[in-house]
Amino acid sequence: VSCRLLAICGSLQARSANLAALDVAEAYLRRRGDVSIEHARGLAAIPAFNPELEADPGPALAAFLEQISRSDVVLIATPEYAGGIAGTLKNALDWLVGAGSLYGKPIVVLSAGTSGGVHARRQLIQTLTWQGAHVVGELAIAAPRTKSDGDGRFTDAATIADIEAVAQIAVDAPMLSADDRLARVREIVTSAGIEPDHIAPVV
Ligand SMILES: Cc1cc2nc3c(=O)[nH]c(=O)nc-3n(C[C@H](O)[C@H](O)[C@H](O)COP(=O)(O)O)c2cc1C
Repeated sequence: VSCRLLAICGSLQARSANLAALDVAEAYLRRRGDVSIEHARGLAAIPAFNPELEADPGPALAAFLEQISRSDVVLIATPEYAGGIAGTLKNALDWLVGAGSLYGKPIVVLSAGTSGGVHARRQLIQTLTWQGAHVVGELAIAAPRTKSDGDGRFTDAATIADIEAVAQIAVDAPMLSADDRLARVREIVTSAGIEPDHIAPVV
């Protein structure tokens, strides 16, 4: 295995366009054969963030922290709800700030939903960057229902190719030189309107 990828879905519903996008990425990476893929499935069981509970956060968070720490790269897919990321995802990410679990971690973000999640992606890029993570790729999937079959599986060839391309960016990210990685991060961060002085160095 050359790369350990953690997939995180911000949507909790079974018939989720974001989960369907992660399925496309996973199928592509499994065909490559040299990537191990884990899913963070316990986000809904993570308690609401409370700094006073950080010493003993419970099993769901402990499992999530372990998954983060053994991953080389993280792929996050989230819906946009009322102009922001899914609260479940933001809650899980807030727990990571104290330990700096995402510091220097390469991350690819995508949002499938009506608008393509421009606000969700901006918010996610901002909160990840402020935690020191390196967002190296992003993808918008607008109007996912028009690109899927009756079961919610993506069927549109261009969308599938786009998801496969960001999955490839994710697995290549740990091998990028520091300069190449930071150049990519800076482009994504500045195009999202976020000040680049928040970008952490490569560790
Ligand atoms: C409560 C709620 C708020 C939403 N707000 C937005 C929004 O602000 N922008 C947007 O593009 N889509 C919005 N949508 C539509 C979602 O993007 C769409 O339902 C998406 O498919 C949800 O992701 P999922 O299929 O992975 O669960 C909203 C949906 C819900 C249920």
